Amino acid sequence: MSRYLLRGKSGQSEIIVEDFNAMLHNSVIPKDSIYITDNNLNELYSSFLQDKKVISIPYGEENKTISTVNTIYDQLIEFKADRKSFIVGFGGGMITDIAGFVASTYMRGTRFGFIPTSLLAMIDASIGGKNGVNHFNYKNMIGTITQPEFVVIDTVFLKTLPQEEFTNGLAESVKHLLISDQQRFSNFAEHINNVLKKDISFLNDFINQQVKIKIDIVNEDELETGNRKKLNFGHTFGHPIEKILGLKHGFAVSIGMIIASEISKKFGYLNESDVHLIRDTLIKAGLPVSCKMDKKKVIEIMSKDKKKNNDSIDFILLKQIGEAKIELIKIDQLAEMFLEIKLP
Ligand code: GLY
Repeated sequence: MSRYLLRGKSGQSEIIVEDFNAMLHNSVIPKDSIYITDNNLNELYSSFLQDKKVISIPYGEENKTISTVNTIYDQLIEFKADRKSFIVGFGGGMITDIAGFVASTYMRGTRFGFIPTSLLAMIDASIGGKNGVNHFNYKNMIGTITQPEFVVIDTVFLKTLPQEEFTNGLAESVKHLLISDQQRFSNFAEHINNVLKKDISFLNDFINQQVKIKIDIVNEDELETGNRKKLNFGHTFGHPIEKILGLKHGFAVSIGMIIASEISKKFGYLNESDVHLIRDTLIKAGLPVSCKMDKKKVIEIMSKDKKKNNDSIDFILLKQIGEAKIELIKIDQLAEMFLEIKLP
């Protein structure tokens, strides 16, 4: 078992990476917690959840809305939940996002923690305190930054995770390596088969490495005034693509990372062989690197990104593999470069 500490303004968050199946006996999870999960997991893990108070919501990003939040508030009231209640988000990124938001706002804030069950939630969504819901076309438009008291990560859940969901999480893993560690990226690219095979000993090291990258960035810049912005690599174009094409988040971010890499090349940072290596690694991971899209529509949504600043946006470029750079770029210039990029 490994333990990491994230020191946030809203409190400390303990991130625990458990050995196979140890989560079931973890003592940091309060016994009378109210669990928020989705209908699939509620069925799949019925023996774990059967003696617990459970609020189960429909699976899927399309349900990460304020109206789902309202149904959860109603059920919390039915459970007579108060400010001393403890909420556990048990699920993938959609669940940890919505459970964190509910817990941060119900009665002006209740205690909460997470048990992430997908790769994406384990290495990214559950760590760092960002929570929230989508608002029509705009992803995570409404939310807060409030740290969960704990995140208990147990790789046992990856065994039942559908392959498509596992691949979805690999996109954020590749992103972590591309923005922070050239050596580890090369190592990942070389040994990707061990990850794809879900070799448990390899996976535990991999998850620990990924969790540490995320925690280090959030510890340095919880409120995203500086380096945390680098975690948005691939997201400026990824979010509109996700929305328009209805792709899974990681799949859209994968295409977004290729677009951002091509733009990094236009800025004279990456060269063709870097972009080739990034593309090749994403393909080996089973991720898409191009798709047919209405570029004008992508630009329209991108230009309303919540991270824009008047007519510019803090765009994340790669200076080289393993090193990201935040560059304030005019939205018009970004749109022009995007229109020039040919996605094979
Ligand atoms: N998922 C990006 C962040 O936590 O900042």
